[in-house]
Amino acid sequence: MIGETGLQRKSDVIVIGAGAAGMMAAIRAGKRGRSVVVLDHARAPGEKIRISGGGRCNFTNIHAGPKNFLSANPHFCKSALARFTPADFIAMVDRHGIAWHEKTLGQLFCDDSAKDIIRMLLDEMRMAGAALHLGAEIAGVERTDAGFRVSTGEGAYEASSLIVATGGKSIPKMGATGFAYRLAEQFGLAVLETRPGLVPLTLDPGLLESIAPLAGIAAPAEIRHGRTAFREALLFTHRGLSGPAILQISSYWREGDEIVVAIEPDIDIASHLKRAKQLNGRQSPQTALGDILPKRLAQFLVEREKISGNMADLPDKALLRLAAGAQSLAVKPSGSEGYRTAEVTLGGIDTAALDSRSMEAKAVPGLYFIGECVDVTGWLGGYNFQWAWASGFAAGECA
Ligand code: FDA
Repeated sequence: MIGETGLQRKSDVIVIGAGAAGMMAAIRAGKRGRSVVVLDHARAPGEKIRISGGGRCNFTNIHAGPKNFLSANPHFCKSALARFTPADFIAMVDRHGIAWHEKTLGQLFCDDSAKDIIRMLLDEMRMAGAALHLGAEIAGVERTDAGFRVSTGEGAYEASSLIVATGGKSIPKMGATGFAYRLAEQFGLAVLETRPGLVPLTLDPGLLESIAPLAGIAAPAEIRHGRTAFREALLFTHRGLSGPAILQISSYWREGDEIVVAIEPDIDIASHLKRAKQLNGRQSPQTALGDILPKRLAQFLVEREKISGNMADLPDKALLRLAAGAQSLAVKPSGSEGYRTAEVTLGGIDTAALDSRSMEAKAVPGLYFIGECVDVTGWLGGYNFQWAWASGFAAGECA
């Protein structure tokens, strides 16, 4: 039966969610000869792709492997990641003539625009014969003898396989919903506690006031939480701490935990200060520290340690204190900016309920969950899209 929109109401596969994972699943299933309908409540597909990577989409990471993902079961992601690799996605990007470059740490970005990736996925979907229905409000999902019926404001769709790719809770303003979690629960699948990941951390008002002069300053840093550490940029903001190093550690951080900040971790600041004292004793500590750190940060650190006088006046103990203030600073964030700005949602559908080869629910044949809604969350740097492509491909291969 053909619906008002010209879409086939009965198909082999329904995909809910036209994001990164859903589009990849539709492409793979369509190329296998399956009839596919993709439903999304948004007005445009791939909205998160469009805003990703500052508009240039960090679409994969050439070093992506299981070690770059957080999950209650760190082994779950292995199978899908091995069967659709960064090289596979790069091959697709190259086939479509999209220019790209490696920015840093294996992170690949479009030279021009993230929209190129969306266009590519839509072209691939067209070639695979997958139909796309936007503005589809999902009223309910039920099991039928033949598979699944998805009711929308404009009628029902039926298919033998249902792939759920509605993402996580981050950026609700962009239409993120808890749909996948609710649906998983409806079908008896466990959902692990969800929380915002890759998110700036906030500080309590007292601490925030003291670092207010630093807002806008960025510096290379190592941020440590327990045995996990990331070396990337740290950014001081009006709300607290941000920058890639903080976003990375935020996925490991829990309320009440401390993080340890080391600014310019590749420089031995204590030795630098001792050398500066020997070479130019009349220099101020601000100037000596300002040679290797942003000036405002240097001044802040000196004032915070209540150090005054010239370098020559300062005992080595004071210099060590100053260095420690910059390189082993324990900070207890008060919270995070939450889903409003988080790039991803940690936790989600328990991988124990899914087959790691196909993403199919073990207890509900024909029902698949892929992408961010599953309890697999990547580091910052193209890993989350790689998970979306790989899990989408895995489901599209079997649905
Ligand atoms: P995604 O959220 O992409 O798609 C879900 C789709 O389902 C959407 O189209 C939505 O409209 C639809 N939907 C939701 N609820 C629905 C409902 N109830 N009914 C119907 N449809 C529904 N990652 C990375 O690797 N590199 C990067 O550069 C970035 N950059 C980045 C920037 C920002 C600002 C954010 C917020 C996130 C990133 N990410 C990223 C993370 C990345 O965007 C994310 O991991 C993937 O988009 C997840 O893909 P999914 O397909 O699972 O969900």
